[in-house]
Amino acid sequence: MPNTTATGFTPETPLILGMMRLHDHPELTQTARLADWIAARLDEGLNVFDHADIYGAGKCERLFGDTLRAHPALAKRVRVITKAGIVPAGQDRSPWQVKHYRAEANYLGNAINKALASLSVEQIDTFLIHRPDPLLQAGDVARVLERAVSAGKVRQIGVSNFLPEQWRWLARNTNLPLVCNQSQLSLAHTGPLFDGTLEAHLTDGLRWLAWSPLGGGNLAERIPADLLDKAREETGLDESALAIAWLRQIPGTPVPVLGSMNPDRIHSALRGAQSLLPRPLWYRLLESVRKTAVA
Ligand SMILES: NC(=O)c1ccc[n+]([C@@H]2O[C@H](COP(=O)([O-])OP(=O)(O)OC[C@H]3O[C@@H](n4cnc5c(N)ncnc54)[C@H](OP(=O)(O)O)[C@@H]3O)[C@@H](O)[C@H]2O)c1
Repeated sequence: MPNTTATGFTPETPLILGMMRLHDHPELTQTARLADWIAARLDEGLNVFDHADIYGAGKCERLFGDTLRAHPALAKRVRVITKAGIVPAGQDRSPWQVKHYRAEANYLGNAINKALASLSVEQIDTFLIHRPDPLLQAGDVARVLERAVSAGKVRQIGVSNFLPEQWRWLARNTNLPLVCNQSQLSLAHTGPLFDGTLEAHLTDGLRWLAWSPLGGGNLAERIPADLLDKAREETGLDESALAIAWLRQIPGTPVPVLGSMNPDRIHSALRGAQSLLPRPLWYRLLESVRKTAVA
């Protein structure tokens, strides 16, 4: 049985907590409040937190790191995923002021060191290249990631928003396993279930970390209220729980990267992660968002 506190996500990990919106929650910007919030999640069995260098223009990683520095006991219990490789236009120091990708060996090597310092952790559990970069030199990048793993700075590596041939090219250049692809999948984004992307994850052994599992908060606009009411009556699950149960039923058991910071919604999501939907309801929800029955 894998030890869920010793490493990052495991087959059983019900949810990953996304930190992209942390800076939008003024009540969590005090380290004592954030420490309480993190401790409550750990007590619920949720120990994996998803970051990126660009979230809140760096503020999210720093807030989290300040909190771990002030509460070292928490630092021992959390596992972090972080990502790098996107430069927003506002952070481009060149005269071009252009949003661009930097999946470049030196840039990523520095980003790993910076993330360790910002997050105040001894090891990044899982480091991801945030977006596929058409200028990516796979061999050079692979060497830097391999050095980070052998130095113990990073435990495992993966990718984010990669298509199968994009991750396969990187994988061909390294002996390190790519453990996951973090990309969009939810009732608000079902396309990858119908174009072979799901099967590519399964064939290549990449765990799907599904971002925006609640559709960024707009599922209620997509699923008719009477269907949600009926589904709640049949299953006892609310909209968030239904969305998470729907996702976890997909082969390979994608791990939702939940963006909610609201404890009630997190509880619902956790309940959903432990629930199984009747197959006809799974299809009824799918049909409602695709606005068409399967062929
Ligand atoms: N790799 C990538 O390129 C990538 C891209 C995007 C995101 N991500 C990761 O995925 C994580 C999750 O993304 P996300 O935040 O878009 O995911 P999400 O879990 O789909 O959406 C969460 C947001 O929706 C709101 N929400 C959910 N249900 C709601 C409801 N019924 N009524 C009102 N508001 C509702 C939440 O508000 P409350 O806080 O009030 O619940 C929160 O603001 C991010 O934190 C990040 O870690 C990765």
